[in-house]
Amino acid sequence: MNRWLKRIGLVLITLVGLVLLAAGGAALYALVGYKKTWDVPLPSTRAVKDSAVIARGRYIVYGPGRCSDCHTPASGRPLLFRGEEAPLTGWFAEKTYLGEWSAPNLTPDSATGLGAVSDGQLARMIRHGVNRENRVALPFMETYADLTENDLIAVMSFLRSLPPTPGLPPSHHINLLGKITLAYFLKPYAPTAPPQESLIAEPTVRYGEYIAKTVAGCEACHTARSLKTGEYLGPFFSGGLSFHSKAHPGYVYVSPNLTPDSATGGITTWSEDDFIRRFRQGLLIQDSPMAWGGFMRMTDIDLRALYLYLRSLAPVHRDNGPTMQSVNGQAAG
Ligand code: HEC
Ligand code: HEC
Repeated sequence: MNRWLKRIGLVLITLVGLVLLAAGGAALYALVGYKKTWDVPLPSTRAVKDSAVIARGRYIVYGPGRCSDCHTPASGRPLLFRGEEAPLTGWFAEKTYLGEWSAPNLTPDSATGLGAVSDGQLARMIRHGVNRENRVALPFMETYADLTENDLIAVMSFLRSLPPTPGLPPSHHINLLGKITLAYFLKPYAPTAPPQESLIAEPTVRYGEYIAKTVAGCEACHTARSLKTGEYLGPFFSGGLSFHSKAHPGYVYVSPNLTPDSATGGITTWSEDDFIRRFRQGLLIQDSPMAWGGFMRMTDIDLRALYLYLRSLAPVHRDNGPTMQSVNGQAAG
């Protein structure tokens, strides 16, 4: 009996050893594997010089698309909060539990900006999340994958029209967990359907859905998600995603339920006018993660479309508690 126990013990120790070796090997591979490149073809989308197209791009970048919220340096943020424009010269925007990433300079400066990045590379970043080095980026900008072709052209054309200004080049500090994630789990994404040519901006549910899901990414923040995998945990637009407050350590902001549930919906009692008025007010909570500065620039048409769309959703009964909550041991991102 004793002998058998010993043997089983030995087998177990060997197995554990093998598992540890494999895990060590896997972690070691991650140290180089996170740099792997992806062979995603470059789209044929090209920037143009038409001033109406450039104006549409400016509207998206500083408005509902809020590219400025991540790509503007700290010095420009007071301007953004007031709904004004500030340079898109880059910011160390993303501090996550996987590491830190800069949201780089979007002006055509050739040393630090997009001067040497081709139109195809730019379009591929937006549609697939594959950067100029052919490496996959964390899904910071995933919602834009479904932009209409004309809106993508507009955004690219506007960025190309900016004066070249030195700024922050792409840079990152990725920790071991981040390297493992990049080496094993992250893949390029793709539009959920072949991109539409264009959509007319009009106060309809369909256009509101496009703003809410694709251009402004309301859905990505107003739905509970796993902070490890990004997977959605609750019904869309029912809120419940939490964000650490920088100004009040130990507290999180929780996104409200935007569905028209009579008991738990955050805006169920709001009229269309209330909704538009709230957006025109902009940032009320000083370090709210929501890009109010960009969103307050939205046209009445876009806001009406958004309102119509949110009203068309099926009510979801989900009580997310107050907007600001103490962390209570829960993980927040
Ligand atoms: C939530 C923050 C965030 C928002 C909003 C955002 N970006 Fe980014 N962006 C990043 C980060 C972070 C990177 C660096 C990703 C990487 O290379 O790993 C990046 C990288 C880029 C790059 C460089 C790609 C390369 O090849 O290095 C371009 C171009 C870009 N973003 C354009 C945009 C545009 C256009 C918008 C708006 C439609 C936008 N971004 C909105 C965070 C953001
Ligand atoms: C980056 C995450 C994020 C995005 C994107 C986002 N929100 Fe929010 N939203 C929040 C958080 C967090 C709050 C709670 C803090 C606050 O009120 O500012 C909030 C609050 C709100 C409120 C309640 C405001 C109030 O005064 O009671 C409304 C309405 C709202 N969001 C609608 C939207 C719509 C519509 C969009 C898309 C155009 C959107 N949000 C995009 C995170 C986000």
